[in-house]
Amino acid sequence: MVREAPFQVLVLAAGKGTRMRSARAKVLHTAFELPLLEHVLRAVRPLAPSPLTVVVGHQAEQVEQAFADTDLAFVQQQPQRGTGHAVQTAREAIGRFPERPLLVVSGDTPLLRSETLEKLVSMHCARRASVTLLSAEIEDPGAYGRVVRSKAGTVERIVEAVDASPEERALHEVNAGIYVFDVPALLSALALLDDRNAQGELYLTDVVGRISNDGGIVCAVCASDPCEALGVNTLEELALAGDMLRRRRLRALLESGVVVEDLASVCVGPDVTVEADAILRPFTMLEGHSYVAAGSRVGPFVRLVNCTVGESAEILDHCLLRDSSIGAGATVGPFAHVRPESVVGAKAKVGNFVELKKTHLGDGSKAPHLSYLGDSTIGPRVNVGAGTITCNYDGTHKHPTRIGAGAFVGSHATLVAPVSVGAGAYVAAGSVITEDVPDDALALGRARQVTKPGWARRRRESLTREEKR
Ligand code: UD1
Ligand code: CA
Repeated sequence: MVREAPFQVLVLAAGKGTRMRSARAKVLHTAFELPLLEHVLRAVRPLAPSPLTVVVGHQAEQVEQAFADTDLAFVQQQPQRGTGHAVQTAREAIGRFPERPLLVVSGDTPLLRSETLEKLVSMHCARRASVTLLSAEIEDPGAYGRVVRSKAGTVERIVEAVDASPEERALHEVNAGIYVFDVPALLSALALLDDRNAQGELYLTDVVGRISNDGGIVCAVCASDPCEALGVNTLEELALAGDMLRRRRLRALLESGVVVEDLASVCVGPDVTVEADAILRPFTMLEGHSYVAAGSRVGPFVRLVNCTVGESAEILDHCLLRDSSIGAGATVGPFAHVRPESVVGAKAKVGNFVELKKTHLGDGSKAPHLSYLGDSTIGPRVNVGAGTITCNYDGTHKHPTRIGAGAFVGSHATLVAPVSVGAGAYVAAGSVITEDVPDDALALGRARQVTKPGWARRRRESLTREEKR
């Protein structure tokens, strides 16, 4: 959509969020992996507003810090005397560009979508309105402000639930708290606000009534999905919003060809990419900047944080993987723990109860059972026997282990780092390896077995004799 003129945005994020019962600023609470304010900013940014100003107040320092490396301008509201007062505080910032329409959004509406904001701004410009607000039809409108219309159907004013008459409270069209204003009309109405209401606050909603009274054009766009208006005021609403965002993401993935086996338990974070034909099994959580390629199967009960999973790879039941990459056709799990900076090569296998840390397991290599491999570089086609452990830590420093291509490490080997096992070499089962093993050598690092023929029988016989005495 092409807009004729640039426009500006003001985000209201100064409120304490008393109903959250939390010391943390409301807009810093996270839903679906991101702070509430970040969700709102992500909805706003594609519209390329300038400037983008945020009103902060309660815990302003923490909020500014959390968004320090961004393009935001901050305005301080102290004390917080209501949404109208919040916009008054930013008067100077918004008055700088009086010809640019101003979009005002709340920092606590994480389900808001760019498309809806785009529609609101376009409608505002097309109608040459003084104010255009977003409304929503809600079955149980609770604490939301109600949109009061004239007999002719035009918007007259907004009344807060606590100030509303029983008839007004029975209305189902609510104010989403999202508006586009003509700046001069806004500034003159703002100057006349008062706090004669149930909460003793300066209501931004009163601006709508004033503008309408003065003969300004007031438009309302009703959100096609009422969820978009959901303002998070309590921890329960925070959880509900998180769940709605999660389900919205899953619907988009299903539409793009990703198989999601269970809509109730799978979670794919906002910055995760999943290719078509990947299969996400129940209780799978993909977080951070993870990437899951086509044909792979993940889950059930798997958590990936910032991981890449290659084509047709399989992450089996109950695995935790962080900041690592899994090659095409590899299998991991069940019950594997892949810790940061690990790379599992193509067609490699990490089996049950295996822990990797900062370890590169080469293409086609296998560590099928009960191993700890840390700070290790393992070449291709290596077999790491059951129970093999790299002793990478001497109590002070971490040391590397290297295993060359095609080496065979027998079961229950203990590799005391720094140490290397050459290409094609063999390490006998049960060995404690403290010295480097050359290419193609066999290393035995264990005591020779002693066998005493008949010893057990003689012991039994002597015990029986003692009993008879
Ligand atoms: C507001 C609207 C209500 C609407 C609802 C939609 C008013 C008076 N009411 O009510 O009509 O249905 O949103 O969600 O506007 N804030 C400040 N400074 C303040 C007070 C609030 O910056 O002094 C910020 C808050 O941080 C929040 C936003 O404004 O992000 C909305 O404030 P909130 O107290 O949640 O308003 P509601 O009571 O939900
Ligand atoms: Ca609210």
